[in-house]
Amino acid sequence: MLIDVLTLFPQMFDGPLSESIVKRAREKGRLNINLINFRDFCTDKHKQVDDYPYGGGAGMVIKPEPLFRAVEFLKQKREYFKNESSIPIIYLTPQGRLFNQQLAKELGKKEYLILICGHYKDIDYRVREHLITDEISIGDYVLSGGEIPAMVLIDAVTRLLPDVLGNEESAKTDSFEDKLLDCPYYTRPKNFRGYKVPEVLLSGNHQKIAQWRKHKALEITKKNRTDLFS
Ligand code: ADE
Repeated sequence: MLIDVLTLFPQMFDGPLSESIVKRAREKGRLNINLINFRDFCTDKHKQVDDYPYGGGAGMVIKPEPLFRAVEFLKQKREYFKNESSIPIIYLTPQGRLFNQQLAKELGKKEYLILICGHYKDIDYRVREHLITDEISIGDYVLSGGEIPAMVLIDAVTRLLPDVLGNEESAKTDSFEDKLLDCPYYTRPKNFRGYKVPEVLLSGNHQKIAQWRKHKALEITKKNRTDLFS
């Protein structure tokens, strides 16, 4: 999978994309991330990406031109645009549809994505009307920009790509796989400061263990996420 990320802060991605599972996916060639600073697509001398909002109000708005030019550059450069009619061009925004495991799975089937990270107040609405294909939010709160949401999306999608997770990290039992949160896990020692591992997990009875895990998953889902439970 190839992901082109348009951002004003490419360095924000350094750590998260260079560790753990995303790092491994990149090394294996399963994931290719290309960070593009769309400030480079400004045509004025000072490379000014933002300006005051028409109509007034606090905060700056990212101008349409650098984003349009950056995407036009990619449309020329990437073969995917020649072979595929629906390339996702995703703007990360709190106004988007909510990201979840199902959406991560759908995006994981794509060979190519473009992610647009805004910053400041917003991007000019014409970008949203005429350039992008999707708007995605990672939750009902406002972050300083789309960079962290883009990294969240990349991480969630990457771990679903074939051959990225080892068996020991299998995604099959993750939360949300069966519409429930995941069950509790324990490891050695059996007794830690008097806190004991539930006997059933030491019993070797796989049927009982599976029943216990299902029961616990239901219990945790009911406690923390009544919306999923109902
Ligand atoms: N940009 C700022 N806040 C965001 C959020 N919650 N989701 C996606 N993009 C954002």
